[in-house]
Order: sequence, then C-alpha cells, then structure tokens
Amino acid sequence: MNAAANKDSSQFRVLIPEDRLQARVSELGEQIRRDFGDRPITCICVLKGSFIFTADLVRAVGGAIETEFLGVSSYHGGTQTSGVVQITKDLTTTIEDKDVIVIEDIIDTGLTMHYLMEMLAVRKPRSLSVCTLLDKPANREVEMVADYVGFSIPDEFVVGYGLDLGERYRNLPHIAVYTP
Ligand code: IMP
Ligand code: MG
Repeated sequence: MNAAANKDSSQFRVLIPEDRLQARVSELGEQIRRDFGDRPITCICVLKGSFIFTADLVRAVGGAIETEFLGVSSYHGGTQTSGVVQITKDLTTTIEDKDVIVIEDIIDTGLTMHYLMEMLAVRKPRSLSVCTLLDKPANREVEMVADYVGFSIPDEFVVGYGLDLGERYRNLPHIAVYTP
C-alpha cells in the first residue's frame, strides 16, 4: 500500500460532486444513443478505473449493448504515469464489424488510449470511438481526442468514482482532488 493512501481526508477537495457527475453521465448516455440510433453498441470497459463509470453509462445509453472488459495496467501505485501499458485481461469476444466504444476513466498523457486504439483497430471494428469521463488535456504526450468527454479538468491528481490512489478511494461517489 502506498503510504500516501493512508493520509487523512483533509488532503481531498471535492472537484465534481455526485449530482453533477450523474447528470453528465445521463447526458453522455443520451448523446451516444442518439449518435448510434438503435444499432447495438459494444462498450469496452477499461479496468479498473472505469468500472463505476461504465456501470452507470451503459444504463444511461440503454438499448442494445454488449459490455466487454479489458484489463490494463499503466500506473504502478503512485501519481506519475510509467508510460508502460500492460494488458492484464483481454476481451472475451471478437469486435470485428462491431460499433465499439472504449470507456475510460481519464485521459492524461494519452499514452494508454493511444496504445489501446492501435491494438483494437487491427481487430477491424466497424467503428471505434472513445468515451472518457475525465480529460486532462494539459498533460498530453501524444495526440488523443476523445469522441465523448464528461469533464475537462486541470492537471491535478484526482480520485473517486472508480479512480484510485494506490488502489484506494475508488468507492467515493464524487471526484476529489488529491494534494500531496
Ligand atoms: P495516461 O496513459 O497518462 O493517459 O493515463 C492513463 C491512466 O492513468 C488512466 O486510465 C488512469 O487509470 C490513470 N490516471 C491518470 N491520471 C489519473 C488521476 O488523476 N487519478 C487517477 N488515475 C489517473
Ligand atoms: Mg484507467
């Protein structure tokens, strides 16, 4: 366990409260369903950070949805990206000819999503889109523009609603900024 993850809650400041999060997730769901009409959508939940967002989003999108899970490890417990992307769990189905949306918790340097897009594109989906709850555009190392963005946030380390610090705080119902 990262020592920082045991610190007191005074180091956390609410950035996006629960009601704003939920309202935005509903909007994103409606927008996605409008864009795809009644076509089936394959949602790929990028583990672990987007598991809560995915659970709420697939219900907000409604209609025909398949949900797949992709295990990715790009951080190793701290607040800095390592730049190394490791696949810890692959999809259990083919995505060929499917309308695919990759669901992320946050795009920071863009390295993880860049890697995933290349990896998934060779599997020949009919379409491949990205939906991220949070975007930190200030910190990009590679170009990456998501099709659907919940909130654009400043370059600060955030936790909650699936996002962790040393595996903790994923269960907060809001997004909070962690200040070391
Ligand atoms: P990227 O490769 O730098 O774009 O970051 C990808 C992953 O790093 C995200 O999917 C998150 O899991 C993690 N990450 C980036 N920024 C934060 C943060 O502020 N809080 C928690 N996790 C983060
Ligand atoms: Mg993630």
